[in-house]
Amino acid sequence: MNDIDNRSVSNLFSLKGKVAAVLGAGGLLGYYHVEALVEAGACVVAVDLKIDELVEKYRSLGEVYLLEIDITKPTSLEHLRDYILTNFHKLDVLVNNAAINDKFEDPTLTLEYSKFENYPLDLWQKSLEVNLTGTFLSCQMLGQLMLLRHSGSIINVASTYAVVAPNQQLYQDEEGKQLFYKSPSYPSTKAAVLHFTRFLAAHWGSQGIRVNCLTPGGVENGQSDIFIRRYNKQTPLQRMAQPWDYKGAIVFLASDASAYMTGANLIVDGGYTIW
Ligand SMILES: NC(=O)c1ccc[n+]([C@@H]2O[C@H](COP(=O)([O-])OP(=O)(O)OC[C@H]3O[C@@H](n4cnc5c(N)ncnc54)[C@H](O)[C@@H]3O)[C@@H](O)[C@H]2O)c1
Repeated sequence: MNDIDNRSVSNLFSLKGKVAAVLGAGGLLGYYHVEALVEAGACVVAVDLKIDELVEKYRSLGEVYLLEIDITKPTSLEHLRDYILTNFHKLDVLVNNAAINDKFEDPTLTLEYSKFENYPLDLWQKSLEVNLTGTFLSCQMLGQLMLLRHSGSIINVASTYAVVAPNQQLYQDEEGKQLFYKSPSYPSTKAAVLHFTRFLAAHWGSQGIRVNCLTPGGVENGQSDIFIRRYNKQTPLQRMAQPWDYKGAIVFLASDASAYMTGANLIVDGGYTIW
């Protein structure tokens, strides 16, 4: 292939022959990240805590291999690394998409416990463990495969709440009564993921490994009408995201189309964070 072919737009965005791993593939966005990578030509190892219910969902997508992995456990990630090495001999793209949001055991206590003053230490620590330590561990373990070939693209998924603080008025009812608070751990851990990304981009730039963040805005997923109306009003494009709105950004960051980009934060949020 000559230079002009190499730099053609279709080649720049192609992931033909590439091997990708998507962590947290069982949630709302993970499926669409996998779909995007497969459509661009990659074969994808898709992992989550439990995969039984994912088998049917992923069956029609093509080259997708499902694995049960806990990103907070080094031995589990070691298993993932060895599985990829044995079966595919390399890793080109890693999407760190797994994360947790707060879940309160007793929903009637959500308002009380989500408030900063009462926020339980164990929830703060759990959030750190999955959102931040899990991302750190996965980069450390799976990055070894990229170091072997001096090549790779890591995409860490952050959030608009990594960039701006939650507007707690979004979580009020029509009368202005607070229903719950967006708690301190999600924005804090996501902001840490963003800066960890810059750290690693600087550290591995000379090794040919690119590390970027994708910062998605809120995705429409059964929220109340009042929430959606308020969110839309706060968003220049006047709507919440659909889960497939990030497919283009994922392929861009994964592929040579973004070859000169590292340590960046690609914000895809309908403009939510610009004002
Ligand atoms: N949905 C949104 O509105 C939104 C907005 C901004 C950012 N994000 C970010 O995008 C990403 C995907 O969001 P989503 O809405 O699909 O979330 P989700 O909760 O639907 O999916 C996250 C997945 O991560 C998995 N997971 C949690 N802990 C894990 C662990 N220890 N090991 C392996 N997998 C684990 C969960 O089982 C789940 O399937 C997250 O990082 C989230 O913070 C989402």
